[in-house]
Amino acid sequence: MVRTGLVAGNWKMNGSLEQNQALLTAVVAGIRSLDRVNCAVCVPFPYLAQAQVLLNQTHLAWGAQNLSQYTHGAYTGEVSASMLVDFGVQFVIVGHSERRALFGESDQLVAEKFKTAQTAKLIPILCVGETLTQREANETESVIAGQLEAVIELNGVQALANAVIAYEPVWAIGTGKTATPQQAQDVHVFIRDKIATRDNQIAANVRIIYGGSVKADNARELFAMPDIDGGLIGGASLVADDFVSICKAAQ
Ligand code: G3P
Repeated sequence: MVRTGLVAGNWKMNGSLEQNQALLTAVVAGIRSLDRVNCAVCVPFPYLAQAQVLLNQTHLAWGAQNLSQYTHGAYTGEVSASMLVDFGVQFVIVGHSERRALFGESDQLVAEKFKTAQTAKLIPILCVGETLTQREANETESVIAGQLEAVIELNGVQALANAVIAYEPVWAIGTGKTATPQQAQDVHVFIRDKIATRDNQIAANVRIIYGGSVKADNARELFAMPDIDGGLIGGASLVADDFVSICKAAQ
């Protein structure tokens, strides 16, 4: 099954108008020749206007890192899906492990955010993954199954046709301890097989990307695995040459 790869940068809470200008200009130039991979950057909310201006009509899509499960109203500090649409956002990360761990986002809340994103025609990048403690306790599959089931129960398996799944082992995020290609492949197969129990076609077509210390020097080996359809890139997405190299590795 040929699935178009996706490499998405997750800038997390980083950037400045000046840094972003240089970074985005260099990335746009660096990926210009890439026609067999989708590339995107998910930027902090305040930089969506700048991304829209700089990236419109380029090969680099842009996205957000979160959204409110509410559509509008008295929710101070929240950002709605329609506000993201106003800034031309295509992707929105939901359920990142940092949102789950630091901001108490439950599997149910993530499922609701997923639904709100799709209702606004945004493409959710659904993050799933286990902690080191859970992996060492052989709970990886049960944890990820629970995260996935919550989304499928609320939205239906068909909803995954317009979504991306990102497997991000928490123990590999920001640590430099990348999962081995085989470790990642094994979990990606588990996720795809889990979806196949509901719908074979959806399972075959859904893009499952890997995140967790993807770097220019390990990306090609990871992306060569049959069920790894690209990457969700943190630290390396803040360095133009590194992010471009990772995008090229997915071409
Ligand atoms: O969402 C991607 C991020 O969690 C991975 O971060 O710095 O390990 O590439 P990093």
